[in-house]
Amino acid sequence: MIPFSPPRIDDKIIAEVVDTLKSGWITTGPKTKLFEKKLTEYTGGKSTLCVNSATAGLEIALRWFGVGPGDEIIVPAYTYCATANVVVHCGAKPVMVDINGDDFDIDVDKIRAAITDRTKAIMPVDIAGFPCDYDEIMSLVKEDSVVRRFSANNEIQRQLGRIMVLADSSHSIGALYKGKHTGSLVDVTVFSFHAVKNLTTAEGGAVIFNLPEPFDNDEIYKFLCVLSLHGQNKDALAKTKGNWKYDVITAGFKMNMTDIMASMGLVELARYDDDTLVKRKKIFDFYTSQFKGDNRFVLPVYETVDKRTSYHVYLLRVNGASEEQRNEIIRRINGKEVSVNVHFQPLPLLSFYNGLGYKMSDYPQAFDNYKCEISLPVYYDLTDEQMQTVVKAVKESVAEVMD
Ligand SMILES: Cc1ncc(COP(=O)(O)O)c(C=O)c1O
Repeated sequence: MIPFSPPRIDDKIIAEVVDTLKSGWITTGPKTKLFEKKLTEYTGGKSTLCVNSATAGLEIALRWFGVGPGDEIIVPAYTYCATANVVVHCGAKPVMVDINGDDFDIDVDKIRAAITDRTKAIMPVDIAGFPCDYDEIMSLVKEDSVVRRFSANNEIQRQLGRIMVLADSSHSIGALYKGKHTGSLVDVTVFSFHAVKNLTTAEGGAVIFNLPEPFDNDEIYKFLCVLSLHGQNKDALAKTKGNWKYDVITAGFKMNMTDIMASMGLVELARYDDDTLVKRKKIFDFYTSQFKGDNRFVLPVYETVDKRTSYHVYLLRVNGASEEQRNEIIRRINGKEVSVNVHFQPLPLLSFYNGLGYKMSDYPQAFDNYKCEISLPVYYDLTDEQMQTVVKAVKESVAEVMD
């Protein structure tokens, strides 16, 4: 069976993890700090906090901004549940909006229509690695009429003076928007390093701060180190250096990254642009060359004048397929020893969000994109022969069900 997205575990990764294991320091320590520094350099953001998942990173960013009951956070209806779950964790309300039809990202006009006096943040999601319309989103939150509606509940919100843009860039490390990396485009950006991601630390995530003046992004980083570790004003490493005594300044969280995770991340990041992305682009381009010109397929948009994906998920659509037909096509592809996936079930289809009253019919574009979508295998070790097997399995299965 051709798998969907196994991690790339080679001798370099193993050697670096073993080095950490033998070093005597396996939790947050020098390798995590180095990984944070390298991520700041790579993304062009101002500071970086590594955490144990993107979910944790999104939640700590919302908590830092003081999001709570009575607040509204705008999210796309088309995303993984984590984007909205963290809003619920904070006691706030996810306000869902529909997506674009050509790509799968949040529709900026729909964001505008969803803004109220309660809106505290917008969480655009770079679905499949393709960056959202960031200039338009940043201009929108700075518009006079939108700024006037913003009501700050605390000092941090007063200092920003407008809606915060918190990008869920879980899929898009390395993606470019007008020549700039994700991480340097909005106020706060979160990446995921979960096992299926382009750059993995098994589990893990990073929060990139890029807040405007007069925020001090290094000070925010230092505070969030504390907040992500029980509110303890010294981490385990700092405690070994002289004075053991520490204080707890707030009831913080337990979200820190370990040096074992960071050691994988350091290897992955060092070869990311010149090796990982090159291979992933080759796979995307191959699939596109094979499905292009065949009107049974709608091809994903992944490179435009202004944007370049991180080549995370290849979102193929089968023209005119119903949800049931798509599911049957997937069953047949699986029968031909190829794993595929669906990214994602829009949130209103999930019991929890449906139970809260979100209705799929309010997000027709999200449903349209979802119902005929099939994500194809993309991973570093995928061979040319396997790519051909994938294409053959997809074409044959589509013909069996649709012709
Ligand atoms: C869009 C999106 N946001 C957030 C997450 C959560 O990432 P993590 O598993 O690192 O918490 C994921 C994970 O797949 C995701 O796809």
